[in-house]
Amino acid sequence: MSPKPPSHASTLLSVRDLTFRFRGQTQDVVEDVGFVLRRGETLCVVGESGCGKSVTALALMGLLPRNAVRIRSGTVEFRGERYPVNDFDRVARFRGGEMAMIFQEPMTSLNPAFRIGDQIAEAVERHRRCGRAEARARALEMLQRVHIPAAEQRLDEYPHQLSGGMRQRVMIAMALANEPSVLIADEPTTALDVTVQAQILDLMAELQADTGMGIILITHDLGVVAEIATDVAVMYAGHIAEYGSAADVFGDPQHPYTIGLMSSVPRLTGPRQRLTTVPGMVPTIGTMPSGCRFSSRCPFAAPVCAERPPLAEVGPGHRAACHFAPLDRTLELSA
Ligand SMILES: Nc1ncnc2c1ncn2[C@@H]1O[C@H](COP(=O)(O)OP(=O)(O)O)[C@@H](O)[C@H]1O
Ligand code: SF4
Ligand SMILES: [Mg+2]
Repeated sequence: MSPKPPSHASTLLSVRDLTFRFRGQTQDVVEDVGFVLRRGETLCVVGESGCGKSVTALALMGLLPRNAVRIRSGTVEFRGERYPVNDFDRVARFRGGEMAMIFQEPMTSLNPAFRIGDQIAEAVERHRRCGRAEARARALEMLQRVHIPAAEQRLDEYPHQLSGGMRQRVMIAMALANEPSVLIADEPTTALDVTVQAQILDLMAELQADTGMGIILITHDLGVVAEIATDVAVMYAGHIAEYGSAADVFGDPQHPYTIGLMSSVPRLTGPRQRLTTVPGMVPTIGTMPSGCRFSSRCPFAAPVCAERPPLAEVGPGHRAACHFAPLDRTLELSA
């Protein structure tokens, strides 16, 4: 029997209308952000540095400093529960258990003063009723699952005794020890060399295939996105500029920002380019244009762009926030 098509996959996490600002600021750093993550699928969130990708993830995990942030709206549906993003107690209950996060820098999650095995065991004990021996057995099992050689010895080592790639594996082991249904990975491989990057991404895909967890992968590497994304959300200056299946967003980009990003995808030949080849810079809070936030860099900006474009459907399940979407490609060619 053939497996069900992935479009029938069930929704794991849905986020709506997420809007917040840092105290003392006059503009929202993230505005009206929403998305859906389905079982076994990978949603990639892309955009240049400073576009609000990390703060969005931190808000969902309840990890932004509470006294520094003002959450103005935002609803989450997760595990059959519906709750506001600022229900910090509920968010804390899921964090590290049903919903886990890994970071670019493993030392954000690992404590240099404690042995690796103890740290993973403690994460297990926090979410399960089990004794120390069982938690330690689980820690060992997880180190083996992430292919750490000589796992039994590694249990008693400290983070500094491991290479960067091995520390990243330990962080993944710790995040996955409680079998989360959602894993948020914020640039998890950016600090690693290319070979290790590929190994870590393969490992995440392998664990996802085993458990069916949904992954939200934040990255600015469009090569990675093309390889593993099911869906893509393109963020620009705290807004979602474009959202849809990877096939639609890559095959038929409908927002001028997405098109700009794609033209800076690293090619197989020639020097490796980064996303900064879209001319200009992301505006900072306080200097955001009041309508379309991309208008200060957009080659197609027109008077109507002083009004904020809605994130409108341009095809089934494919949305773009541009007054001119669906785009007339002749415009693009003559620009
Ligand atoms: N604690 C904070 N206080 C004030 N501004 C912040 C704080 N953390 C992040 N920012 C600002 O929020 C914006 C989005 O940052 P971030 O989410 O880190 O971007 P990205 O992950 O897309 O590179 C940036 O302008 C950043 O300077
Ligand atoms: S709404 Fe206007 S400024 Fe914004 S992306 Fe579209 S054309 Fe460019
Ligand atoms: Mg970031």
